[in-house]
Amino acid sequence: MALPFFSRGSSTIADRCKSDPATKLRLRYAPYYHAMQAQQGTTVRLKDRDMIMLASNDYLGLSFHPKVLEAGQAALRKWGSSPTGARVSNGSRAYHIELEEKLAAFLGKEACHIHAAGYLSCLSGVAAFAQKGDFILADKNIHSCLWDGIRLSSAEVERFSHNNAADLRAVATSLPANAAKMMVVEGVYSMEGHIADLPGLLAASGEHQCFNVLDDAHGFGVLGRQGRGTADHFGLTDKVDIICGSMSKALASTGGFVAGDRDYIEYLRTHGKHTIFSASLSASQAAVASAALDILQTEPEHLERLWTNTRRYTAMLQSLGLDTWGSETPAVPVVIGDKARAYAFWQALLEKGVFTVMSIAPAVPPGKDLIRTAISAGHTDAQLDQIAEAMAYAKKRA
Ligand SMILES: Cc1ncc(COP(=O)(O)O)c(C=O)c1O
Repeated sequence: MALPFFSRGSSTIADRCKSDPATKLRLRYAPYYHAMQAQQGTTVRLKDRDMIMLASNDYLGLSFHPKVLEAGQAALRKWGSSPTGARVSNGSRAYHIELEEKLAAFLGKEACHIHAAGYLSCLSGVAAFAQKGDFILADKNIHSCLWDGIRLSSAEVERFSHNNAADLRAVATSLPANAAKMMVVEGVYSMEGHIADLPGLLAASGEHQCFNVLDDAHGFGVLGRQGRGTADHFGLTDKVDIICGSMSKALASTGGFVAGDRDYIEYLRTHGKHTIFSASLSASQAAVASAALDILQTEPEHLERLWTNTRRYTAMLQSLGLDTWGSETPAVPVVIGDKARAYAFWQALLEKGVFTVMSIAPAVPPGKDLIRTAISAGHTDAQLDQIAEAMAYAKKRA
């Protein structure tokens, strides 16, 4: 089965949208945008059937934690539903400032700015700092939001091989010595589950005075002391200039953050269009993130359980002979390698009551079509048993 992804040939935008084969195929097979009827922790209801959610990024399982729910409800009553505008014009709220101070302290940075989406934070964390004439050295597997940030910055971009410090060094050496440079990497790659080789990458970028931007959307809350993230995991927080990330994963909220030296954050507030001209985070979502951040520091059992579940799950997949692309984290791909088989595998899991997401090229490199799964501290032993049975069944079926 060929799955064309983009259609570009039509003469009008309306025709292009109406005749797009990728959209037609998606609507026919519907592997995306499912309408969940209900959710309780790691269980979702789809077409009147309870299923195990194995595709969300609620790594610490905090999205139904009583303290998190209570904090969100109280903030909604106190501050209303939305700040209904950008902070530059209608002001910051106490809850923005408190959360920013808390996040900065937790991450070991002087200052922080929060946005209403992780996508905005990571895009701004690149676009606000680089400019025309600069060179950006980017790992070729970075997230779409970082590519968008690179494009918007108007800087020149040079890709280096995924997680390869030697290639980064070679590429950096080929660039004009006096040009300003930025390195853009992720802490944990969300599709592959790989941890960045930060020691090697930072050593190479340091030789070329790069400004280092780390998107730690999937490392935050997962790696490092109490979940301080990938830079903390390696003891290299001081060497990373900007740590950006999302609050929609381990923090069980929405929104994102950019953290760094105070001068950098004030520069972002002066030059970052997405920071200046977009409405700020709502009180309920800020309160949820803030409560989750407290839980990270006071209830270590969630992080411990996450890693216990991750080890068990990864070992189970490997014992079945499934390819996990060398994932070292709770973001675990099951690489199938072919679109049609990936679709059959995904469907077989669904049949067995396990909800996952299929990720196909160009979202992943050609030949790496995969089922993206993510483990949560919230998965019970019984759920992990059911997932193991479903994986064995899907392997036979696909
Ligand atoms: C690496 C990475 N950065 C940024 C984002 C954007 O975060 P959000 O979904 O909270 O907007 C994502 C989302 O999945 C991500 O995987």
